[in-house]
Formats: sequence, C-alpha cells, structure tokens
Amino acid sequence: DQGQRQRLLDAHKAAAEFYVEQLLTPRAQEGRRFLSDRGFTRADAERFGVGFAPPGWEALTTHLRKKGFSDKEIILAGLASQGRRGPYDKFRNRLVWPVREVTGEVVGFGARKLDPEDDGPKYLNTQETPIFKKSHLLYGLDLAKRDISRERQAVVVEGYTDVMACHLSGVTTAVATCGTSFGEEHLKILRRMLLGRSEFGGEVVFTFDGDAAGQKAALRAFAEEHGFVTETFVAVQPDGLDPCDLRLKHGEAAVRDLVATKRPLYEFAIRSEIANHNLDTYEGRIAAFEAAAPIVAGIRNEGIRKFYGVSLDKWVGLMDESYVLRRVDELA
Ligand code: CTP
Ligand code: MN
Ligand code: MN
Ligand code: MN
Ligand code: MN
Repeated sequence: DQGQRQRLLDAHKAAAEFYVEQLLTPRAQEGRRFLSDRGFTRADAERFGVGFAPPGWEALTTHLRKKGFSDKEIILAGLASQGRRGPYDKFRNRLVWPVREVTGEVVGFGARKLDPEDDGPKYLNTQETPIFKKSHLLYGLDLAKRDISRERQAVVVEGYTDVMACHLSGVTTAVATCGTSFGEEHLKILRRMLLGRSEFGGEVVFTFDGDAAGQKAALRAFAEEHGFVTETFVAVQPDGLDPCDLRLKHGEAAVRDLVATKRPLYEFAIRSEIANHNLDTYEGRIAAFEAAAPIVAGIRNEGIRKFYGVSLDKWVGLMDESYVLRRVDELA
C-alpha cells in the first residue's frame, strides 16, 4: 500500500545519506581509492550520490533503527537480511550506488566489493522488493531523461561506473540495467521517452563491454528488438574496454567517439554470426551464409530484408546475390 511504499522510500533516503557520510570516514579509504583509480573525483562521487557501506554486520541497521524504522521495514526494503539472531546489513564493505526511480527517489542500491578476499559477487544489487523491480529500472535514467527526449537518443551501457564515465564525458543520455539483462520493459520505457508524441524516430545505442559477455549482451538485446520502430545500434570497443576504462585510458573524447562508431544492430548480429566461420574456404563461406541467413530472413520489413540480403552476400563473399536473396526469401 501507499503508506508502506512511503516508509520504504524514506528508509532508502536515510540509507543513501548514511552511505554518503560514511564515504568520508577513515574506514572508507579503499572505497575512495577505487573511485580515484577509476578517474572519479570527490565531486563526481557526490554528483552521483556514491557512498560506502561499512564493514561489520549492523552499521546501517543500527542507524535506521535510531531513525525509527522497524526491523521488519528494514528487511522488507532489502537493506538487511534476516539472520538467526536478527537482521544484518545486506551491503558490507562495499561502494554503493543509489538506484533512483525516474522521479529521483532512491529505491535500491548497486554495491561493488572492495576486498578481493571477499567471496561475495563483485556486484551485489538490491533484490526484488515492493519498490525495486529490476526489470523496470534503469540506473541513471533520472539524470538522462531530459537529454534522451531532447536528443532522441538513449545509450545503454553495462555498469554503474560506465554510466558515470559517459555522463562525465558528455554522453548524458547513458543508462544501465541493474544486475539484469536488458529486456522488453526497459525498451518500452526508453521508447516512450524517445518517441514523445510522435510515432517514429529516436535511437537506442547499446555500448556494451568489448568482451565476450558484452557481445552476448548485445545479441540478447537483439532478440528483444523485434516489433519496435525505434532504430537500434551497437557500438562495441574493439579492444575489450568498457566506457569507464576507455575514459581512463584514452580520455573523454574517446568515449564520445565510441558512441559515434555505432553500427546498426542487424549488421552487428549478422557479422557476429559470420565471424564464427572461416571465410578462406568456399565451404566456410556457405556455412557462414547459412548461419546468418535466418537473421536476415527474420527481418519483417521487405526493403530492409533485401538490403541486408545484399550486404550478407558481400560480407561472406559468395558473389551470388540472386541465390542469396532467393534463399533468404525461402527462410522468411
Ligand atoms: N554486474 C552484476 N553482478 C555481477 C557482475 C556484474 O550485477 N556479479 C553488473 C554490474 O552492474 C556491473 C556490470 O554488470 O557494473 C558490468 O559488469 P562487469 O563488466 O563484469 O564489470 P566491470 O566493468 O569489470 O567491473 P569494474 O569496472 O567495477 O571492475
Ligand atoms: Mn564486462
Ligand atoms: Mn529475433
Ligand atoms: Mn565492464
Ligand atoms: Mn569496468
């Protein structure tokens, strides 16, 4: 109900403030070092509300109790877990990013471990709660919303540090999912912002990590793309860097340039399939063609299908356009 929802939001507001204060304490030194190693200043951390969850089992829980929150509320909010002897803090000795609703209200956290000896996952996110639905949440959307509508472009990156790096580099339309893959609900939310009142226009650029996982994520997004008029692109860094690393190593212009190298998602998907084959032999080219043809055949718009059919012939080097187009139509 509304009353409960407000209590959970209030608990998150108090938690976010607590974490920000903690980042300034001596025990947060590793956290501050992580940020500066990534090229983020204290002002950058403030701008994004980055904080520090202290080590120990009940720093936040104790703080929230003092503020009048019940153990039940703290657990329901996902800020603590129920242990045998009472609640214990969910995030411990981690750097935390507040995840906000588009309205700006904090509804959860993403938290990165700082101690390599810690056996927990590298990133820990708030679990599903009455106010945290990860299939609907995009980190950074509160900051990016205006520019997404104005520029009619949304840039989707993988992580919290990548969103920061993009915004600081001038790519102010960047958002990221929170510990889940990009799905249909995310696309619907972006699409509403991109289209505004018109029915056409607006583009989504996936700028995932240039590693195998990032490539896979882009292809998964491709599976979700069907049925949307929004134009979809992929920009992948060839040497495996993510936007955060890219800004650190090559500067902010390189981050802006990366987004500018975007290729259509169709082209990316087709070429990724082709890349699994050896084009030195005729058999290899046929195999590459057969593997990529279903992607082309799945394109509903006839003109676009034909365009990628012709491109596919070129990319695999079959040099037989009419055969390629016939085969694609057969599969369609
Ligand atoms: N992620 C997650 N849970 C994990 C690993 C990753 O939710 N166990 C999400 C986080 O949002 C993270 C993003 O996926 O920011 C990208 O993951 P990855 O590329 O592995 O992170 P790195 O860029 O390597 O992490 P970092 O830069 O913090 O070292
Ligand atoms: Mn990665
Ligand atoms: Mn598909
Ligand atoms: Mn990464
Ligand atoms: Mn990274």
